[in-house]
Amino acid sequence: MAGLIPQSFIDDLLHRTDIVEVIDKRVPLKKQGNNYTACCPFHQEKTPSFSVNQDRQFYYCFGCGAGGNAIGFVMNFEQTEFPEAVETLARDAGVEVPREETKAQQRKSSENSKIIEVLELASKYYQYQLRHHGDKNKAVAYLKDRGVSGEIARDFGLGFAPSGWDNVLNAVGTDDKLQQSLLKAGLIIERNQDKSSGDAKDSNERHYYDRFRERIIFPIRDSRGRTIAFGGRVLNDEKPKYLNSPETAVFHKGSELYGLYEAKKSGEKFSKLLLVEGYMDVIALAQMGIRNAVATLGTATSARHLTRMFRQVSEVIFCFDGDDAGSAAAWRALETTLPLMEDGRQVKFLFLPSGADPDSHVRAIGTDKFLAELDAADPLEEFFFEKLSRDLDVNSIEGKARLSNLAKKYIRQIPRGVYAQLMLDRLSSTLGVSSESLDQLLTTNEPKQEPTPNLDIPPPHHANRQAQGSRKPASVRPGVYRKSASLKAIELLLRNPEIAVSITQDLEPLRTAEDEGRKLLLALIEMVKKDPNTETFTLLGYCYGTSLGNQLTQLLTDEKITPQEGVEEEFLHILDNILSDIVKKLELLQLKDELKSRVSAPKEQN
Ligand code: UTP
Ligand code: MN
Repeated sequence: MAGLIPQSFIDDLLHRTDIVEVIDKRVPLKKQGNNYTACCPFHQEKTPSFSVNQDRQFYYCFGCGAGGNAIGFVMNFEQTEFPEAVETLARDAGVEVPREETKAQQRKSSENSKIIEVLELASKYYQYQLRHHGDKNKAVAYLKDRGVSGEIARDFGLGFAPSGWDNVLNAVGTDDKLQQSLLKAGLIIERNQDKSSGDAKDSNERHYYDRFRERIIFPIRDSRGRTIAFGGRVLNDEKPKYLNSPETAVFHKGSELYGLYEAKKSGEKFSKLLLVEGYMDVIALAQMGIRNAVATLGTATSARHLTRMFRQVSEVIFCFDGDDAGSAAAWRALETTLPLMEDGRQVKFLFLPSGADPDSHVRAIGTDKFLAELDAADPLEEFFFEKLSRDLDVNSIEGKARLSNLAKKYIRQIPRGVYAQLMLDRLSSTLGVSSESLDQLLTTNEPKQEPTPNLDIPPPHHANRQAQGSRKPASVRPGVYRKSASLKAIELLLRNPEIAVSITQDLEPLRTAEDEGRKLLLALIEMVKKDPNTETFTLLGYCYGTSLGNQLTQLLTDEKITPQEGVEEEFLHILDNILSDIVKKLELLQLKDELKSRVSAPKEQN
């Protein structure tokens, strides 16, 4: 499975594939004029705004902005990654996906598939024991006692590792090669070297023993449902309570999420995921009908965990245990999240009563109340400011200065865009200082024409000038948020290509831009200027081939922030800002050059 898919194959596949057929199979389409339409599968709607263009082999939703080619559609619709989407289309077309594999990769991938093979066998073995082993009653009673039904046990593939040192070893490790795979899978452990040394070489002398004994077994599956590791819980109070597979070639704790496969498999479509701490939290929530919980595997929430979640949904709710460890984990999770807070993503925190975990809490208050609590969970910004100002007197000058310093450090890490602006606005209103001044603080490492005033101690009389003077939405401050400004402009242009027609500004400065977003913006504007009838599809087609393609598709799936009537005004405003930003930079560079030549000139004379 590993290895790169050759680009020529992808091109060829897209040629063989008709996007209308691909989509029609999944969402029945109606022909309307040149296009095919349907109600959009990516957002709730009653009248169709989802449109497929056969000539351009593109789909686009005028309601939510989702758009792309056939591969993009399958990725979006089946919530899969690029290679899987290609596999799907190739299967439909009856062709095999070639892989460009090196010898080393081939060896590794065949080794990995052997490891997965024994993991699958072991999982079947454990599941079978839960139903048939002589001691199964202990395990079944334990699960019943914790309120786990047969249905949930089946959905999560729960199993039972009976007592004994060589159950899996005997059941799965029937030859040397299989034993090596079991060892690499972390299912068996090698005995101390000295015990098996000397002349104790007869075949009855076992070199290995089972890792999991007398435990409830939780298979950990990857996003494709392949078992890659296990967790095992004791049936009593013994320690350690949970035992997990070690890191192996196929299992990386720092990025796996327990329950993600099961959530996808449940058939429900989720817009948010709940992140909890434990296996049993995921299971209990599922048991109570909440199927979108996932857990990290005894490790802190990593950026890789979050990225994986945001690939599936735009909202993540952290729900850690109501203890000190839980609240420390929440703050650490917030810190990890900040750099990933792109526009359109949302993060919330649900704080549980002291001593509770999601398992005990949902059972105590019931599904409906739990769902209501989830809806009312604190948005990231709420938790952020509450935590930072907890130990400060934000009414005092010192307190404000401290808060400003603390908050700045964190807000800098948020990608530039609407969300960062929202955080800044909130900081500025808490501090009583204009957000423009704060913007400057955040870009202190960029060259400044004027010295930056010390803004940690706010001048109170400036407080509300900004708020009164402007009725622009918070998203419009592109001079500061350069990259997202051009993307935002592109987004607006894609929604309404005709707005480019009304551009009167001199676009010359844009030609000097090196930034991908600005270059793309210029190219798109020029396409529309050349042909005012240029459609969204044409522009999208152009974008798709660029490195910004993915980012744009993401952008377009995010919610619309600008109401339809404001689109043109906002677009022109952003463009203005981009242009003047470029001009300012150019002037600054010129100034620098002049200064340099003045400084170096006398030296040369010497
Ligand atoms: P918890 O102790 O909160 O687990 O640990 P839990 O799910 O609430 O346990 P019970 O079954 O209800 O008592 C949270 C997670 O930390 C890891 C496991 O992944 C567990 O689900 N952990 C915990 C271990 O790996 N080993 C341990 O000994 C304990
Ligand atoms: Mn628990």
